[in-house]
Amino acid sequence: MLQNLTRIVAQDKNFLSIINGRRIGAVTGKTIPVICPSDGLEFATIPACGVEDVNHAVSAARHAFDKGPFARMPAFERGRLLTRLGLLIEKHGDELAALEARDTGKPIRQGKADVAATIRYYEFYGGAADKIHGDTIPFLDGYTALTLREPHGVVAGITPWNYPMQIMARVVGAAIAMGNTLVIKPAEDASLSTIRIGELAIEAGFPDGVLNIITGFGAEAGAALSAHPGVDYVTFTGSPVTGTAIQQAAATHNRGVTMELGGKSPQLVFADADIERALPVLINAIIQNGGQTCSAGSRILIERSIYRDVASELGARFDNLVAGPHDADLDLGPMINAAQKRRVENYITGAAEAGGEVIARGSIHVDAPLTGFYVAPVLFGTVDPAAVLAQEEVFGPVLSLFSFDDEEEAIRLANGTEYGLVAGVWTKDGARQHRVAKRVRAGQVYVNAYGAGGGVELPFGGFKRSGHGREKGFEALYDMSATKTIVFRHD
Ligand code: NAI
Ligand code: MG
Repeated sequence: MLQNLTRIVAQDKNFLSIINGRRIGAVTGKTIPVICPSDGLEFATIPACGVEDVNHAVSAARHAFDKGPFARMPAFERGRLLTRLGLLIEKHGDELAALEARDTGKPIRQGKADVAATIRYYEFYGGAADKIHGDTIPFLDGYTALTLREPHGVVAGITPWNYPMQIMARVVGAAIAMGNTLVIKPAEDASLSTIRIGELAIEAGFPDGVLNIITGFGAEAGAALSAHPGVDYVTFTGSPVTGTAIQQAAATHNRGVTMELGGKSPQLVFADADIERALPVLINAIIQNGGQTCSAGSRILIERSIYRDVASELGARFDNLVAGPHDADLDLGPMINAAQKRRVENYITGAAEAGGEVIARGSIHVDAPLTGFYVAPVLFGTVDPAAVLAQEEVFGPVLSLFSFDDEEEAIRLANGTEYGLVAGVWTKDGARQHRVAKRVRAGQVYVNAYGAGGGVELPFGGFKRSGHGREKGFEALYDMSATKTIVFRHD
């Protein structure tokens, strides 16, 4: 079953970084093996870039920002670069979906969904590039005041392995639309789609140095990039701990940052909710991408009067969930690597040992290679709101259920973690929809729906430990630029 996929991406085994429009290895010649999580086997390599490579990439981005054709390119032409890249991604959609699925282990249909969202980002920001503008400001008599939205300069994008293509797209789309140049450092566990899209950007006519791709380990390439004095702004998606390290590095030179740091996102289910409608959405919110999603709906808060019914309905569905290889396209794939599998398993055994009630457990397909990084999904009931499982981001297929007596308690539970990324509210009561949506601390609140995967138009980002700054939608264009105020005196 897995062998078939080898041919789809066979043209490249040794992938290269991209600096100044050229495909290139690390100066040291070192590489990192690329592992398919479905079978744990190596199928390619990427360069293990270090300080010297990062220096080259930042110089190339700096030169492109200051002097190259991009420096004076009108906004609509920057938009065209993005639009053309989106069209090339569409043309290579099947290849990219297969590559992403093989590199991350995600089911192939998720790879396809990621391609579709990626195309939308380039389309959206391609169209937005020439539609964002500053203000004229009423000021003193004899003066005219106006603002320009100017690019930061060289933007560093450090991206994670869960949705590499999509997260790259939201960074590149907004940054290029505003006239920044970029150095992207994808995660060492999943760099291939980023490299391929970097190659397609050359084909789309991106001038040299505008979009540089540096692969390598976080502690080497990532650390060098985030501390580099030639970088003007850093955007990061990943764990809060790494986010702190990156902010400290960027603070060395007082550079601005956008931080998207995950969540422990709740869904609040009230007794009057349309449960039939909610159930598949509640399940998908934690099972999509094996739960390795920053916006995963990992906590479900259920009004006590319907708790038993909803728990047993969810349990019945959980029992039927099956994990398997990406190309088998089952409910979920494997975890990204052996460490993540162990991490998730430790959360599960820790919670069970602490007396957690296992309501249901899915399974791992019998044909799944034993060398793959699979975890069977688990549903925990009546979790203590203070428990580790209730507070920490597991980043795996583990769902916890809680009960509440009234709206006040539901909101308290929803807000009772260090995170604040996304929330779902399920109720037919219109006034309650508004009340709860306003009081829940989350960057996105969905009412009778849940999902941040698509929705490229919707501003996205966190409160509290989930981070700061906003990506996606028009808001990202503000993050990717700085306001310059110009005042003319003409009395
Ligand atoms: P990570 O946050 O360490 O890695 C994300 C990116 O940061 C990668 O490109 C990595 O190379 C880079 N990086 C790592 N250390 C760095 C450093 N010192 N300086 C600069 N860049 C650095 O995440 P990791 O270790 O892969 O996963 C650990 C946990 O993080 C997961 O179990 C999950 O809980 C969380 N996570 C959350 C994500 C989200 O979207 N919210 C995405 C990935 C991981
Ligand atoms: Mg991989």
